[in-house]
Amino acid sequence: MKILGIESSCDETACAISENGVEILSDIVASQIEEHKLYGGVVPEIASRRHSENIMAVVQSALDKANCTMDDIDAVAVTYAPGLIGALLVGVSFAKGLALSWNKPLVPVHHIAGHIAANYISHKDLKPPYLCLVVSGGHSHIVEVVDYNTFHVIGRTRDDAAGECFDKAARVLGFPYPGGKHIDNAAKEGDSSAYNFPHPKVAGSEYDFSFSGLKTAVINLVHNASQKGEKINVNNVAASFQRTVSEILRDKLMLAAKNTGYKTIAVAGGVSANSGVRQAITEACEKNGYKLYLPELKYCGDNGAMIACQGYFDYLSGKRADESLNAVATLSLEDI
Ligand code: KG4
Ligand code: ZN
Repeated sequence: MKILGIESSCDETACAISENGVEILSDIVASQIEEHKLYGGVVPEIASRRHSENIMAVVQSALDKANCTMDDIDAVAVTYAPGLIGALLVGVSFAKGLALSWNKPLVPVHHIAGHIAANYISHKDLKPPYLCLVVSGGHSHIVEVVDYNTFHVIGRTRDDAAGECFDKAARVLGFPYPGGKHIDNAAKEGDSSAYNFPHPKVAGSEYDFSFSGLKTAVINLVHNASQKGEKINVNNVAASFQRTVSEILRDKLMLAAKNTGYKTIAVAGGVSANSGVRQAITEACEKNGYKLYLPELKYCGDNGAMIACQGYFDYLSGKRADESLNAVATLSLEDI
């Protein structure tokens, strides 16, 4: 069964075709990063306009690369939530037109469920139930993946997402948007014990995160140094910051695994590409005897393959949308 998956929730226009969910026949991503970089972040209206301009060519090249026509496609899957509303609407409207004109079923996919599904592509043996840390530019969740379509979010961020924290720390250190991978590179040249940043305490839920205090600590460090005319070692700040984020994510994830009893762990989302996060969680899982699944680097960030994969599992579970499907900017993974 072939699913064509469309993703346009933020600044990547993407389309992929999956065969039986986990074999990816084509995977096309048109990134807008170079343009948004000029403004230090994603400009929603520009994102929508670029999606509109690019989507036709992106879908056509996904079909061409997979050696398919729409006749070969069994269903059209599309990210409908969460994300930038104007950006989502482009993908949703295009997918509706495609499904209607070719008389194909339309499958609505939640973006975070897509990120989680990226691991099924990279690891054919991974099956629910398991515990997944989802860390992206907009979300930081600890999720019980009960089944392919059933999720319990047991931990979430109270303020900034992990990726947002990376991007804001990177900005004050002088790196372009999105700064996560620049911090990752700089950290490789730095001393991770040079600075001690705070590990936030979050009252209420023991699995919830808070990253705004850490972000403020980095901003204050840089501003104080510049006021005093002192030079900071950017690589050392990046390495110390990355160590702190990695420890926070690792510790909450390990606590959740211990208390819930899951022995299978996965990580997903843009920040799962971070080498410090990957290493810290890999070591902790080895120490505790947990089986760990990390997505291939190309499937960590936004892509169409993860939507074509999750679209397959959602199709099998009977999930369908009609021409009234709308985009939703904010929607919990538990409400789908
Ligand atoms: O999942 P994603 O592509 O988009 C959202 O759904 O938000 O995540 C993007 C986030 C950005 O904040 C970006 O800086 C971060 O993932 N990111 C990284 C790395 N690569 C991407 N953060 C840290 N280290 C990386 N290597
Ligand atoms: Zn994403």
